[in-house]
Parts: sequence; C-alpha cells; structure tokens
Amino acid sequence: MKKRTLLILLLFPCLLNAQGGMWVPLHLEKQNEKEMQSLGLKIEADDIFAIAQPSLKDAICQFNGGCTGEMISPEGLLLTNHHCGFGAIQQLSSLENNYIENGYWAQNREQELPAPGVTAMFIARMEDVTALALLGVSESMAEEARQSQIDKNLAQIRVNTKKEKWEDIQIRPFYNGNQYYLFVTQTFRDVRFVGAPPSSIGKFGADTDNWVWPRHTGDFSMFRVYAGKDNLPAEYSKDNVPFRPKKHLGISLDGVREGDFTMVFGFPGRTDEYLPEAAIRQVGEVLDPAKVAIRDRALKAMDGFMRKDPAVKIAYVARFASIANAWKKWMGEMQGLKTYGAYEKKSAMEAEFTRRVEKSVDFKYKYNNLLPRLRDLYRDIEPYALARDYYLEACLRNNEVLSLAAGLNSWIESYDKNGEAFFAGKQKDAAARLEGFYKDYRPEVDEAVFAALMEIYAENMPEEWGGGFVKMAAAKNGGYSGLAHTMFSNSVLPYRAKMEALLAKEPAVVAETLKNDPAYTFWKTLSDAYQEKIQPKLQELQPQINLLQRQYMAAQMAVFKEKRFFPDANSTLRLTYGKVSGYSPRDAVHYEEQTYLDGVMEKYSPGDYEFDVPQRLIDLWKAKDYGRYADASGRVPVGFIGTNHTTGGNSGSPALDAYGNLIGLNFDRVWEGTMSDLNYDPAICRNIMVDIRYILFIIDKYAGAGYLINEMNLVKGKRKRK
Ligand code: ARG
Ligand code: ASP
Repeated sequence: MKKRTLLILLLFPCLLNAQGGMWVPLHLEKQNEKEMQSLGLKIEADDIFAIAQPSLKDAICQFNGGCTGEMISPEGLLLTNHHCGFGAIQQLSSLENNYIENGYWAQNREQELPAPGVTAMFIARMEDVTALALLGVSESMAEEARQSQIDKNLAQIRVNTKKEKWEDIQIRPFYNGNQYYLFVTQTFRDVRFVGAPPSSIGKFGADTDNWVWPRHTGDFSMFRVYAGKDNLPAEYSKDNVPFRPKKHLGISLDGVREGDFTMVFGFPGRTDEYLPEAAIRQVGEVLDPAKVAIRDRALKAMDGFMRKDPAVKIAYVARFASIANAWKKWMGEMQGLKTYGAYEKKSAMEAEFTRRVEKSVDFKYKYNNLLPRLRDLYRDIEPYALARDYYLEACLRNNEVLSLAAGLNSWIESYDKNGEAFFAGKQKDAAARLEGFYKDYRPEVDEAVFAALMEIYAENMPEEWGGGFVKMAAAKNGGYSGLAHTMFSNSVLPYRAKMEALLAKEPAVVAETLKNDPAYTFWKTLSDAYQEKIQPKLQELQPQINLLQRQYMAAQMAVFKEKRFFPDANSTLRLTYGKVSGYSPRDAVHYEEQTYLDGVMEKYSPGDYEFDVPQRLIDLWKAKDYGRYADASGRVPVGFIGTNHTTGGNSGSPALDAYGNLIGLNFDRVWEGTMSDLNYDPAICRNIMVDIRYILFIIDKYAGAGYLINEMNLVKGKRKRK
C-alpha cells in the first residue's frame, strides 16, 4: 500500500470497516450490492427494492408518521414497537380496560379495535428528480432567488408526475439540498389495534434500561391495515377488509450468531453526519449539557410527586418517559462524542480536506473559505442557539402552563384581529381541545416544575433576553417557589373548572381575562423577548449556515472522491446493513450480542414498576415451556445487537437476515453509541433489536394468541439451528 493510502485509511477507519450508512434503496445495486453480498447477503438488490415487481420494500411502511412498521401476513398484519403503538393503545384504554397495563389480544377480526388517526404509509415508487428540481439554478444565485426557482420547479414536477387518485407525492431534499428525490406514496387510515403485551413485557426496564444494553424489553405491538374492497386506502368503515400487501415478510426462527449479516429497512428521521467539528462541539459541549441540565430539573420535580402518589404516577408516566428519552440520549451523546474521539476525528478529516483543497487550483478557488466561514458562523450563532434551547426547553416543552399560554396566544391574536365573530361558537371547541391538556395534568406538579425551570432559566438567560425579568419577578415573590405559588394562585390556566367557567362567558370577557392572566402575561413577556432579541439573529445566521452546509456537503463529496457518501436521514425510506456483533466500550468490558429470558428473571424485582414480571411469564420460564422458540441451548432469546446504522424513526423497523427474512424488530441503540447521529463509529455504535423468537413466544405461549401465527409465513430453516 502506498504511504498516502495507508494514512487515509488510518484517518478514516470507516473505509476499512465499511459499515454504517443509511442508504437510498434506489441505488443499492450500484452502491451497495457487492459489499452487502461480501458481508453475507444471499439475495439481490432488486429483491430488496424494485419498482416493476414486488420487493421487500412493499412490506415496509412508515407507521403513524414517526416510526416504521412491516407487513407480516398476506392479510395486512402489521408489526411495530410497543412504544410506537403506545399513544394509540393509551387512547383505546380505560380504567376498566387498561391495555397498557394488562396487554390486549383480539381473539378475532371483530375484536380488532379501530385506532383513529393512526396511519400506515407505503412507498409506491421513488425517483431522482435532481436535474428537474435544480433547473435554472446557478451557483451565483442569491439564496432567495435560488429557493424560489426550486419551489417553482418542484411545483412543476408535481403537476407532471403521473399518480393515481389515492396516491400522494413527496419531494425531499437530500445531501443538504444538493439532490432531490420524489416519492409516490399510499397512506392507509383504517388501521386497527390487534394486540400488545402488558407494559411489564413491552416496556420492561422502562427508563432505567432505555438506551442501554444488555436489554430485555419485548418492545412490540401489532396492528392490522384495512383497505376498501378494491384493496386501496379508504377512510374507516366497518365494511373495509384486511389490506393485501404486494409483499409480506417471511419469518425465520433460525436466530442469529455473532458475525451474521443483518439489515434494517425503515424510515430514519434525522442525522447530521457531515457537520464540521465546530458544530458537533457546540452540540456536545454547549447545547446538550444545557438541555440535559434543564430536563434534570423538570424530571426531578416530577419524580418527587410521582413517587408519592400512584395517581400522579399514572397521569405523568408517558410525559415523563418522553422527556426522559431525549434527556438520556443527549447525555449519552455528549459523553460518546468526547470518549470516542469524535472531535479529533473531525479535525483530522478537516485538516486533510484543507490539504487537498490547497493542492488543487480548482478546489482552492471553490472551497477555500468554506471551513473558516462555517467556523465563524457557528461561533456567532452560539449564544442565540443556546438561548433558543433555553426558551424552548424551559418555557415550552417542559413547562405545561406556559406552553398552554403559548397555545392560547393564537386564539387571543385572532380575537384582536377578527373580533367577536371569531370567538362565537368556538368556545365549545376549545373546551374539547383543553380536555386533552387537563386529562393528565396536576397543577401542583406543574407548579413545582415551573419553579425549578424558571430558576435555571434566570441563572442562564442573559438579563436583557428575559433572564432579568424572571429574576426580578422571583425577587418580588421571595424566590422561585414564591413566584410559582403566586402565579398558580392567580392564574385561571392551571384549573380546568375555572377555565370551563371562563369559556362559558361572553367572548369579550374570555379574551380580556386571558390577556390579563398572569401565566399568559408572563409567557408573553418571555416570548416577546425571544422574538425581539433572539429570533432575528437566528433568522439572519441560520440561512447562511444552511447555504454553507450545502456547499460543504458538495465539497466533501468532490474532495473525498474515494469515499462513499450516504445522505443524512430525512424521514425517507433507507436501508442500513451490518453484522450481528457485540462490542467493547471500555477497557476490560465486553458485551455479548444476545440476551435471554433468563436475563429478564435476573432483573426481576417484584412490585418495581420498571422491573416487575407477570406471573404467567415466570411460570413459563420455570416450566421451560418454550415450544419451538428456544435456541439449541434451550433458552429463549430476547434481544440482540448489530452494527446497523439507525436513528429515531427506525423504531419498529424489521431486522432482516441474509435472505430478507424477519429475524427481529429494531427499537433502540446502545448507550455508548447514541452519538451515532453526529458520528457513527462502527466499533461502538450498535442498534438494539427484539429477537423475533421472543415476540412469537410471547404471542403464542404467553398470550395464547397462536392463531395469529397461523397467518404468518414461517420459513423453513436455511441452516441448522444452533
Ligand atoms: N430510546 C428509544 C427511542 O428513542 C425507545 C424509547 C421508548 N422507551 C422509553 N423507555 N421511553 O425511541
Ligand atoms: N428508539 C428510537 C425510535 O423510536 C430508535 C433509536 O433512536 O435508535 O425510533
């Protein structure tokens, strides 16, 4: 090997260990097929993705906008995660029929429960439309002119694209706006809940185990897609029939071993793999720590109440889990970036980039200034980006009463603009919408959260950006608890009965009262400070960053010609592949690739809401009543990990073997590798999947819903079971 090549390989180990990447399925044959086959794939690119004939892609859908699901029977049976179905299952639950707590299994089609609002979106076809999208666009164009030209082009593409009545068109930018792809989609809206295990299986380990390996969660739930008699998407009707997909996945009970090929097919949401070092440092050293500190306070305040009162616990458990999910991920991300040398890796890459740019006249002319300008802009935007996070995290996302105030604002503004006419008749509507807010709301919890958040806000937000106002308000009330207490005693917002009484009054009274409500005026002061002092700077700097990121993306692709680039995730269909593999995060620590039911029992802690185990599962374990779902060692596999490059949105994605058969269900990533959205490192980053044998074991042996397995396609073993 030439010295230079060796150096490059040292700098970019990803070239040696060619794993990682969320690949566009349209280009598998050109970009990936060879490598996939060398890793063990036994089928061909067009078995995975084809437009003219059925392929695996026809079994994959985006579930409910943010997750992935897959067809596992010819009759529209859909598999996804428990945490993806959670909202829908909660909606269908009541105190008497608590499907979250107890699980549920429809015994026949009549018992499949319509889940209003739940969607399943399939991709009929996709196309690279870059040339048309960028028609008439030139390098020298101003950004605004460029965007308006592109918008015109996209509108034209939409008009010219042939599609059926029941299809939709999506056009998405790829590679930071350097390429555009078109998707023709079909969205089904009659999706019914078929079954889920109890939370003690589907959410086993809850927040403590979240983002952590070894894992023992049976994170799955099942739905069925229904269609009109013509097999096309249709609004809910009891006359609808189970959808017959072009393709459903075969299921293999063969299991996996270290080193086996696997791939994950789904809808990853967002990654930022091509940022400069300055940007990922900002995330890891400034923004993540701030957001973590804010959520720390909110979670601590909530936790105190949840431990004291089981009713509060029920009301807040979903909210707590969702706040804790990102909180924990950011913590893992900031640690991982530092521990595994992400900054050094980026800076070595940038040094090589600069060296190559300097050497070529052509590159030098085009890319010379990119990195220095990006660094300057990231430095300039930092205080504003931080202030944005403080505002969003402390005043909106984690602060219920202020976020309600923000929600009411559009109402108040509309009253000011359109007068009484706007209000007339809308009050009932508003009351119904507030129902959702108050259902799981406890003013005493929110008051404590408010006090905690305002304290950290005042400590960190510059005086003139809202920090000073909060400090003064606290001083006037003898501190942050005093401030919270005064506000919650005088505001209408935290109290359902008071709000309902208010809404029954004359529109003018409603509007005036809301406008003068202390929670509303408090939010308004902070929001105005944000709109005046922070927003304009963001609006000035962000587009400049976006423009340079687009150029930097193109530059990286031009300068590192030897490297393959996958586009950052953007909620479109992608394939990632790799191997089943354990990992070694620290000196002397090695994690194996597979967990077992015995591990569930090791973690079992009777009565603990995170680690309780249902009696029936204990009985099956004691009796070793595992049916065909144990492996050759006589144990039931529960979870496994691999080097598939996944992110949020990949939850519920199928894990497939070398033949394209379903072997597991993706649902999480390992703690040390949560940095993968900014810095995928094949040595450390692992995705976590539930083993399909655990899923079928629970359905069949635990839930007694084996009739569902009859409609699935269990493929004969391709190799001897271990
Ligand atoms: N961390 C996983 C994801 O990002 C699972 C989240 C659901 N589980 C939980 N305990 N909150 O979505
Ligand atoms: N748990 C994530 C999801 O819900 C997956 C991940 O972030 O790895 O999509």
